[in-house]
Amino acid sequence: MKQQLQLIWGVKYMEKAQIGVVGGLGHIGLIQAACLAKLGYKTTGYDKNISKVEDILKGKLPFYEPGLHEIVEETLKNGLLKFTSSVDDLKSCDLIFICVGTPSLPNGEADVSQVFASVEEVVRNRKSPCTVVIKSTVPLGTNRKVAKYLEEKGLQDKAVIVSNPEFLQEGSGVRNFWEPSRIIVGAQSGEIAETIARLYSPPGVPVIITTWENAELIKHAANAFLANKISFINEIAVLCEKVGGDIRVVSRGIGLDPRINPYFLEAGVGFSGPCLEKDLKSLIAQFHKKGKQAKLLESVLEVNEEKRKEVVHKLKEQLGTLAGKHIGVLGMAFKAETDDVRDSHSLPIVRYLLSLGAMLTVHDPWVKSFREAGFSEADFPGVKWVQTPYEAAEGKDALLILTAWPEYRELDLARIRDSLVHPLIVDGRNLFDPREMKAANIMYLGVGI
Ligand code: UGA
Repeated sequence: MKQQLQLIWGVKYMEKAQIGVVGGLGHIGLIQAACLAKLGYKTTGYDKNISKVEDILKGKLPFYEPGLHEIVEETLKNGLLKFTSSVDDLKSCDLIFICVGTPSLPNGEADVSQVFASVEEVVRNRKSPCTVVIKSTVPLGTNRKVAKYLEEKGLQDKAVIVSNPEFLQEGSGVRNFWEPSRIIVGAQSGEIAETIARLYSPPGVPVIITTWENAELIKHAANAFLANKISFINEIAVLCEKVGGDIRVVSRGIGLDPRINPYFLEAGVGFSGPCLEKDLKSLIAQFHKKGKQAKLLESVLEVNEEKRKEVVHKLKEQLGTLAGKHIGVLGMAFKAETDDVRDSHSLPIVRYLLSLGAMLTVHDPWVKSFREAGFSEADFPGVKWVQTPYEAAEGKDALLILTAWPEYRELDLARIRDSLVHPLIVDGRNLFDPREMKAANIMYLGVGI
């Protein structure tokens, strides 16, 4: 790969370019930094969190991502990848990627303060100019505002601002880096945009070089469209349940139309995680700021919120009341193949169950406690964590599946049935065939089946 890229881009550029990644130990930043180093660039990941930097230098990654550990290990060893908690170490970098968080504010808007602060921090004490590439998902107009901000501070000659939104999915981020569906670069200079696109786009991958605003819109519209597909299929699932249909067959039937395609048509408990919901809320807030309504996007969010309540209502319907009932919950991560619990649907569902008086025992193969996931145990009173899904089922009134971990598909159903007081499973991820559950004498309620 490296040789192929050297042929295309020129050995000199490859050898000379020095790259800095701010937020270098976050999900996007670390994948970006490690994969750029693997491509042959001297890359420095900068993160303010000193203990995270110390950990990674000892080989401990801050999160689980398939295939990432090996790349970090290899590139740290060959010296192409470095980590630092001192911003001064980015002074020699020609290109600096900004991969910091843009969390939701209470009104749905994205908080871009970390982006502004990071850009100013890396630019302020530089002697030579650099290119600052904003990968963080930022609202419309942010790249322009950052450029203006630098101008106001008299720093405009120190940096050129480029927007390069990312489309990595957690759990397959490394694969997405090597096989991107497209590279989008928003810039004011076509030449700089070309350089950024050539930096890591494999041959044959479509590249769109455009304005800052278009790049920002593409990122938001892509995530909103994915969310739209999920809420769409989840709405059809409601009708499936009423008429005895099977949403999995309906999904397949519509997904075979190439104009629709089969992706993101899995019905379930809805979308969650740190991106789709946050970006959708941010996009809606941007409509409102411009004095416009976003009727479709607002209902995408409503359907999603409804889906979370629905699984709880299914339990309640079967058990009469949830007060004093013991429920085993399988899955806290927002999806399988990640240990990320940020904005996971499991959190509001657990809170809702607790508010109805249920007593909960939870399991997740990768997450082992609320504290480990960055939350206070006190916010989830009485919730017990166990090491196996069987312990989560033992002596419970029902089992609730919230994350599609492959190991849950492999559960010994007879053992689960015998462990439960009521052989009831509510499955928010449609992991099982209802016929299989019927054969195991388990009352099984999926989504749209
Ligand atoms: C999402 C986008 O897919 C990425 O392209 C984007 O780069 C990223 O956000 C981002 O903005 O950083 P991610 O948040 O990792 O990626 O997760 P997804 O794979 O999109 O899944 C989001 C949620 O939708 C999960 O809760 C998942 O279980 C759910 N989902 C997904 C469904 O309920 N049904 C489906 O058919 C697909």
